[in-house]
Amino acid sequence: MTVYRNVVILTGAGISAESGLDTFRDKGGIWEKYDLMELATPEAFAQNPDLVHEFYNLRRAGVKKVDPNAAHYALARLEEKYSGEITVVTQNVDGLHERAGSKNMLHMHGELNKVRCGACGAVRFWSDDLSRASVCPCCGQAKHLRPHIVWFGEVPFHMDEIDGLLQQCDLFISIGTSGSVYPAAGFVQIATEYGAETVELNLVPSDGKNLFATGCYGRATEVVPDYIAELVRQDEM
Ligand code: OAD
Repeated sequence: MTVYRNVVILTGAGISAESGLDTFRDKGGIWEKYDLMELATPEAFAQNPDLVHEFYNLRRAGVKKVDPNAAHYALARLEEKYSGEITVVTQNVDGLHERAGSKNMLHMHGELNKVRCGACGAVRFWSDDLSRASVCPCCGQAKHLRPHIVWFGEVPFHMDEIDGLLQQCDLFISIGTSGSVYPAAGFVQIATEYGAETVELNLVPSDGKNLFATGCYGRATEVVPDYIAELVRQDEM
């Protein structure tokens, strides 16, 4: 019987794929359809804010049309039932973990349903389209609001906190991420270095599969609930 005290779960786009959201690097994924250099960098936003707003408006509207799936719900159930501490660190900006009920979460790449004001620094919930004409609800200025998203070349959020969690966790689970983007791709090595057990749950083995002690492969809606059910069962024994 294995019961863990601190569990860190890293999630990526693959956990939301069966909710109907595109992943980034799979065939037909977002970065095959769109040029990330034109849409997901601070330079792109400075050069063509309308295009960047349009891209994130489409994605913000897209997430409203989908629902969390069995994998998101399994993680929320784990947090509710498990005796140890569960933290979900997500690269996803879609909000599906919270809608499924997860509470102890860190959004390292930001959130689609929030905006940030470049003038006053306020971060606010935002569910509508965003444009250069949008006015900051905090300081009343227009032209300064941007999606609260971490773009390429920017530092992800909560890195110190995540680093501390990785050093303390005894189980690190990576779900639905290709492990192509740092710093998230390096989390497994930090967790391993500090003695955690590591497991990858993904559709197929990722490029970083050898960094994990174990792996379970298949659709997130099947593999994740099965794996979580076993964790909960062992915890209850
Ligand atoms: P990727 O598109 O790079 O990887 C998605 C992973 O999910 C792949 O390894 C797939 O095999 C797996 N996958 C696909 N369908 C699945 C399913 N039904 N069940 C389980 N796994 C499945 O997405 P991320 O790793 O999340 O950053 O990408 C990381 C970051 O790169 C994103 O947060 C985003 C992107 O550029 C920013 O925009 C800053």
